[in-house]
Amino acid sequence: MSATVDPVSALLDWYDKNARSLPWRARRGQKPDPYHVWLSEIMLQQTTVTTVKPYFEKFLRLFPTIDALAAAEDEAVMAAWAGLGYYSRARNLLKCARLIAAEHDGAFPDEEDALLSLPGIGPYTAAAIAAIAFNREAVPVDGNIERVLARLYGLETPLPALKPLIKQKNQSLVPADRPGDFAQAMMDLGATLCTPKRPNCLICPWHKPCQARHSGIAESLPQKAPKKPKPERSGTVYWLENAKGEVLLHRRPDKGLLGGMLCFPSSGWDAANDSPLPATLPAQWTALDGEVVHVFTHFRLTLKMQAQNAPKGFRKPRDHIWLHPRDFAEAALPSLMQKVWKAVLLP
Ligand code: ADE
Repeated sequence: MSATVDPVSALLDWYDKNARSLPWRARRGQKPDPYHVWLSEIMLQQTTVTTVKPYFEKFLRLFPTIDALAAAEDEAVMAAWAGLGYYSRARNLLKCARLIAAEHDGAFPDEEDALLSLPGIGPYTAAAIAAIAFNREAVPVDGNIERVLARLYGLETPLPALKPLIKQKNQSLVPADRPGDFAQAMMDLGATLCTPKRPNCLICPWHKPCQARHSGIAESLPQKAPKKPKPERSGTVYWLENAKGEVLLHRRPDKGLLGGMLCFPSSGWDAANDSPLPATLPAQWTALDGEVVHVFTHFRLTLKMQAQNAPKGFRKPRDHIWLHPRDFAEAALPSLMQKVWKAVLLP
């Protein structure tokens, strides 16, 4: 009879040999840098490892320490973030950096509860930083970790109802001496072997103990309750060009969707925060062909496009700028507005 396999040691042994080399990860035997761990965890919220890597490296070049980030101009940070999406993360990143620099002597708190009280840090991120940066027995649970644990224990209840049990199972496993490695090992297992489709069970460190594999149902777990379709919104975006070929852009207020970002004026889709159309323009718009579709976390947006040349004597209102399309790439427009610009100029 074979000895029962302890899943925790099996996983950590596997991790010791197979850990992914990621730019924010400490090398073996070295202490993790909490600034690196925090920055990576904020970037990894809703964003893949592949997308985050070059942004993380760019941020470290531009802002090598938390104090450097805290001292940076807002615009420099927003520009470095451009393209990563979910821009409230960048604003909270700066808020958090300035708070840590001003009130915590540049050092992150090392406990989950204190981390949770900082801007931009929710339960997952607080647990991930506490575990990875400070080796606290905290249990971050993301989609990868839900999947590997649902399979290990053969849990067939659909998500999200399954979440509390997953958390409990996770807490019962976490090893007191290596909680950070344990969390990262589960992330790696989920990303490389225990993938949503066609998991590579043959070489998995949990080959023996995995109940879902024994029952032949690994690929079907975790089950998910059917998703509600996203609400639909629609509106109009306005392309106003002056005689120099420059186009009018509005800097949106700091709070709210796309807060602080440069956007073409638009209306009808974000009641609280529409970038209003300057009131002095004649109603002489030409409808352009096509539409721009963009999916936000909470709704799906379709924008129709209208254009006109600025009439003589038109003066741009405050919070607006004229910008030539050749300078758009550098101006850090959010993805939605990059789609608009491409749809107008390269239909
Ligand atoms: N996803 C979220 N946090 C992560 C991390 N620290 N490493 C890899 N993937 C992650």
